Order: sequence, then C-alpha cells, then structure tokens
Amino acid sequence: MNNNDLQPREHWTTRLGFILAAAGSAVGLGNIWRFPYVTGTQGGAAFLIIYLIAIIFIGYPVMITEMTLGRKTQRNPVGAFKSLAPKTPWWLVGALGVFTGFVILSYYSVVAGWSLSYIFRAISGFTPDMDFADVFVGHITGVGVPIFWHAVFMILTIGIIASGVVKGIQRAVKTLMPILFVLLFVLIVRALTLEGAAEGLSFYLRPDFGAVTAITFNDAIAQAFFTLSLGMGAIITYGSYLSDQDTIGDNAAWVVGLDTVIAILAGFAIFPAVFALGLTPDAGPGLTFITLPAVFAEMPLGSLFGFLFFLLLSIAALTSAISLLEVVVAWIVDEHGWARKKAAIVLGAIIFLVGIPPVLGYSTWDGFEFLGMDVLDTYDWFANSIFLPLGGLLTAIFAGYVWQARNLQDEANRVEGSINVGAWYGFMIKIVVPIAIAIIMLVGLYQTFTG
Ligand code: PFF
Repeated sequence: MNNNDLQPREHWTTRLGFILAAAGSAVGLGNIWRFPYVTGTQGGAAFLIIYLIAIIFIGYPVMITEMTLGRKTQRNPVGAFKSLAPKTPWWLVGALGVFTGFVILSYYSVVAGWSLSYIFRAISGFTPDMDFADVFVGHITGVGVPIFWHAVFMILTIGIIASGVVKGIQRAVKTLMPILFVLLFVLIVRALTLEGAAEGLSFYLRPDFGAVTAITFNDAIAQAFFTLSLGMGAIITYGSYLSDQDTIGDNAAWVVGLDTVIAILAGFAIFPAVFALGLTPDAGPGLTFITLPAVFAEMPLGSLFGFLFFLLLSIAALTSAISLLEVVVAWIVDEHGWARKKAAIVLGAIIFLVGIPPVLGYSTWDGFEFLGMDVLDTYDWFANSIFLPLGGLLTAIFAGYVWQARNLQDEANRVEGSINVGAWYGFMIKIVVPIAIAIIMLVGLYQTFTG
C-alpha cells in the first residue's frame, strides 16, 4: 500500500520556509569546515574563482533541474524518476541518490559529533598552553566519546525528521538559520578587528595560480555539488514539498546565492584570525579542529568565541543532516508506505551503525587503508568523487535528453518569477554540465589512481 493514498503530501507553508530549508541543507560542514581548508590549500582566491565558475555554470542549472523534478512529480528521488520515465531503469539514478544520502549522513554525523563535543571543550576553556593537535587526535582516536557524540547528533536529526516537514524541518530551520547568520556575523567582526587581520585578507583575496593543478578543478566541482546538496536528490526531495505556485528560477538563485555568500563569509571569519595569530591556513581538514582552537586560545574572550564558532558549525551541520535523512525517509515513506516516525527512527539507527566504522578507523581499525585513506575519508571519497558527480551527470542527461530540456523549462516557468529559465538552460544542461562533469571526474579518477 502506498502511504500517499492515506495522507496528503505536506507542503512548505511559506516561500521563506522552503528557501531556508534548502539553504539550510546547502550550508553545512561543506561551507564552514571544508571550503576554508580546501581554499587554504589550493591557492586562496585562485580556487575561489574556479569554484564560483563551477557554482554558476554547473551548480545553478542542476539546482533548477532538481527543484523542478521534485515540484513536478511531488515524489522522492526514486519516485520522481519512475513517474517521468515509467518502466525504464532511470529510477536507479534516484536509488543511487538515496544510497548516497545514507552514506554521507553516516560519516557527516561523526564529524558533526566532533563539533558538538568541541562546544563543550570551549566551555571548559581553550588555553594557550594546550596542544590542540594532541587534543584533536586524542578525541578522534577515542571510541566511546566520539560514538556518544555521533549518537547525540543522530538523535537530534531523527527527532526533527520524525516531526514532519512543516513541524519538524521548517520549524527547525526558521529558528536555526537566523541564529546561524547572527553567529557568523559576530565571528566575522571579531576576526576582522584583530590586529594583523589584513594579512589573512590578502591571502584570501589574492589569487595564487601557482597552487592550481588538475586536482583543483576536480575539487572545485566536487565542492560545488557537495556544498549545494546536489547530485543525490536532496533538492528533488525538498522540491517535492513545493506546491505548483512556487517559482523555480528565483528560489534556486536564492539558495545558490545564500550558500555561496555564506561559504565566502566563513573565509572572512577564519583567514584573518588564523593569520592575525601567526598561524597558517594550509592545515587541511585539521584547520577547524586544530588551528582554530589555537587561534581562539590566543584571543581575548577566546573561549566564548570558540563556543560560538562550534555552535555555528553544529547548527550548520544539523540543518544539512536533516535533509540527508529526509531523502532516505521520503523514499521509504513514498515507495514502501512506512509511517514517517518509524522510518526516521529505523533508518536513522541503521545510519548511526554505518557511521561506526568511520569512528573506529582512527582507533581499533586504524590499519584500514584504501588508496592511502582512512575509513571516514574513504566514505567521503566515494560520495564526493564518484556518487555525487555521477548522480549530477545522470540527472543532467535525464533532464536534457529524456524528459527534455524544453519540457523542464516550461515546467519551471509555469509560475512566473523575476528569473526566467531561458534557452540558456537547455545549452547548459545538455552540453556544458555533462561534458564538464565527465571530463573532470575522469581526470580526477586518473590522478587519484596514478598518484
Ligand atoms: N551541503 C552540505 C554541506 O555543505 O555541508 C552537505 C550535504 C547536505 C550534501 C545534503 C548533500 C546533501 F544532500
């Protein structure tokens, strides 16, 4: 039995509700943890420029595509492809998306758990005599403590999703997103007013094209998909709770714009502070958990700002995690008739378990290695370097050639907004997006395997 026969589909009650939910999905660890460290290691503004090109020419058209697929079909990713191309294997693209959501959330929650625990570490105080590399390594090589925080984070995520689209997701983002904006603003003002902040700004804003390699392009596209929550049906799912009165071109621009602005602003909160305190921003993934606490330890009221920073990071992660769980839950509710609460609890619990190997990869299973990566990085690599770009590529081909770009354009423009999805869309989705993703994915894979 299909659950849709029993209950009418929920819809966002306001346009702002949808925009905040989709922007909440987009703004996450990708913006505040990953974007600054990738930028820090790949040439500062040089990376930023390539990333912006990827966002505009690939991210925006794919965002329009996913929103329209969702609004048109009013279904989860699997159901969306089934309803537009019945009796064909295209539903497998939706299934890949659901699977990807499952994988990403399992390790995303582990990193979010680190962030939650750092809120409490900040409260007990960051002091200059601490060795933050030791603190971080000590934390992740534990077993019980990281698993505990991973569990806490999953329980928060499950609680919101179990409460529904309007009472759960929309209510959470309407409270959390404004807090996120305020926290980010406070942290930027703090960073920019530190003595020596200018050096960080110049690193961030002056492009170093010498640091750009083929990997940079790969990283920029992978980051564009990850940060915009594209390539795995999250936006199809959120789009499916839009009613046909909602505009697509404008909403997609809002979400892409907010995500991009917040990533760039995160750089303004981080680089000036790192340089002002004489540290370097090229620490890689440890930038957030090792370099920044050291920065906070040195500044006046540093523990307070550290607390605010990890609160910001945790909120950003939570509003993204709910969209990941929603993809999986919407699939089983729509396609297999499960009740939402049961789906959220059972699938959330399974995802929690799948997230345990990434935790253990730093302790019990630290002998594990795949292409030189630990378990968490391996999950992340498959999701980001393969599943998301592949999902984006197949979604673009589907929209451009199977459903047909023209039809999608008409559907997107059914409600007029200030941004019309014009003929440029067909050119992008049929030619530019698939070719760019295919080339960059192949080059990236070649480089990964040849070292
Ligand atoms: N966009 C999120 C971030 O930048 O952290 C991550 C993410 C959320 C990816 C939801 C994919 C997704 F469906």
